[in-house]
Amino acid sequence: MTDPLLAFRAEFPIVDRTTYLVSNSLGAMPRGVPDRLAEYVDQWADLGVRAWAKGWWEMPVSVGNEIAPLIGARPGEVAMIPNVTIAQTAVLSALDYSGGRDTIVMTELDFPSVRYVYDGLATRLGARIVAVPSDNGIGIDTQRVLDAIDERTKLVAISHVLFRSAFIMDAAAICRRAREVGALVSLDAFHSVGVMPVDVKALGVDFLSGGVLKWLCGGPGGAFLYVSPEATASLAPSFTGWQAHERPFGFEEEMQYAPNITRWLNGTPPIPSLFAAIEGPRIVRRAGIENVRAKSVRQTARLIELADARGYEVTAPRAAEQRGGTVALDVPHAYGVAQALLANDVIVDYRPGAGIRIGPHFYTSDAELERVVDMIDGVLREESWKPFEAKRGTVT
Ligand SMILES: Cc1ncc(COP(=O)(O)O)c(C=O)c1O
Repeated sequence: MTDPLLAFRAEFPIVDRTTYLVSNSLGAMPRGVPDRLAEYVDQWADLGVRAWAKGWWEMPVSVGNEIAPLIGARPGEVAMIPNVTIAQTAVLSALDYSGGRDTIVMTELDFPSVRYVYDGLATRLGARIVAVPSDNGIGIDTQRVLDAIDERTKLVAISHVLFRSAFIMDAAAICRRAREVGALVSLDAFHSVGVMPVDVKALGVDFLSGGVLKWLCGGPGGAFLYVSPEATASLAPSFTGWQAHERPFGFEEEMQYAPNITRWLNGTPPIPSLFAAIEGPRIVRRAGIENVRAKSVRQTARLIELADARGYEVTAPRAAEQRGGTVALDVPHAYGVAQALLANDVIVDYRPGAGIRIGPHFYTSDAELERVVDMIDGVLREESWKPFEAKRGTVT
């Protein structure tokens, strides 16, 4: 049976040259991106400073509108922010932790960068963090998260899909519980948007952030922040800047927050990154996110099957409904094996505690899945991981 999504391979030049299985880290570049960047360069060259008024200032929202349909948001509800750490900092800084609502519920498997900000800033803002532990390093028991959310909870700030294991958190149950006790939810959806359907309205989430560089094939420098209209109407970040002002070009002494999503912006937006970010989300929308998810479930299941047949340790959830787009294989000498694959143009990554992460995407062929597992086999058999392990830790 032919896979209609393979037609999209033509959009991604790198898949002709490599076995590209690392969309969990950096999605392949769409072939339209150089034209977009040329557009940016031409505008800068021809219009000079006038380019700002010809659309550049609007780009955090106009590019956000490209993402909005992929998360069930309406136009004008998503702003582009340089990275998720900054987006989460804005969220954290918008809340008041007094009056007995001083708790932020997280998990111990959330992305470290986000945890560093929360751990570092929360106490200064008068909040305390409750990080729900994991029993197995792969997932977090939903009931434990629900039990941690109570009348003291101001914010639940968790990953939608855990970065190491691709474990899908039960965001619907967590949002429901948060609503029951009057707490807000901020989802870090870096590992869900672009590889599975996400619906901010159905979830009733207050904030949702993610980036375009992985599953959305939009390159670095483009992250996005959805804020519910209710939260935008009632909250404003103290981590802010002139682009959040209602009249940024008034250069007024006092802050007056814009009444819309732009109140979540801060300083000058990274325009080249925003040009680069446009193509990927459009292609994902054309492919159809339901189709992308169906293929991802099928291909990650196939990877697990291939790994099981060889007795490799799989650190990804086995239940399809709990498994995101990545399969991690904790094979012996995983670091060295991953380097040997990279040296042979089979592109994967390695994470301590997870092993070799393999992230097929809608442009991945089934033959590529066989290839990567066969190659892992070969590297282990021939011990060609050895020179890479020997060099580990040295500057390369
Ligand atoms: C779940 C998750 N959150 C956040 C980040 C990083 O966010 P940023 O570098 O955009 O601040 C990553 C990066 O891999 C991630 O996987």
